[in-house]
Amino acid sequence: MNGKERGLFITLEGGDGSGKTTVMAEVAKALEEHGVSFISTREPGGIEIAEKIRDIILNPQHTAMDARTEALLYAASRRQHLAEKVEPALERGVSVLCDRFIDSSLAYQGYARGLGIQEVLNINMFATQGRFPDLTFYLDIEPEAGLARIAAGQGRKVDRLDMESTQFHRKVREGYLRIAEMYPERIRRIDASQGKDEVAADIRGQLSAFLKELRA
Ligand code: TYD
Repeated sequence: MNGKERGLFITLEGGDGSGKTTVMAEVAKALEEHGVSFISTREPGGIEIAEKIRDIILNPQHTAMDARTEALLYAASRRQHLAEKVEPALERGVSVLCDRFIDSSLAYQGYARGLGIQEVLNINMFATQGRFPDLTFYLDIEPEAGLARIAAGQGRKVDRLDMESTQFHRKVREGYLRIAEMYPERIRRIDASQGKDEVAADIRGQLSAFLKELRA
């Protein structure tokens, strides 16, 4: 990629315990091998304002938080991270690999919380001014298997959303599958119940094909 072109915006999505952290590292390695210059980030991405918003959302004491408040706060945090970190990189020709973006809000707030995918899409369109990723990997796994990974301590500390019922996490998955159908070109579903090596191989294959097509 020559430095003057816009960078690529690649996101990783998945339910809790789907193995995103490990897969992020794999995608990063693959991008390096393809000679793509990129930054790795995650919402809220070390952006102070966005971090503060995120702390309010995920605080386990905030059980009274209304679903629309939650959706608006995620959108606000996303906006700040996008404006301060993602867009400037893309404009410099640096690609961005981001752990979670708009699809998380569509699946968690739009579908699982029942606010409506379209409604949550609307507030996010305001927040992002229509910026969508160029490519999204969705790590698909049965919620029971994902939550079991977290319980086994293979993840990180439990936050307010992990405390939701398995039923909620089932809905998150259903939501993601619907969103993947809405954006078949952009979202690539990866079977995350496979072993690490198989997941990595799948992603590498898809990424190579995507970059090849882009450079053709
Ligand atoms: P995150 O800190 O990314 O944790 P992980 O990806 O390791 O699960 O996300 C924390 C929680 O926030 C997670 O349960 C997903 C949820 N979430 C939403 O509900 N909506 C959103 O827009 C985002 C970005 C995250």
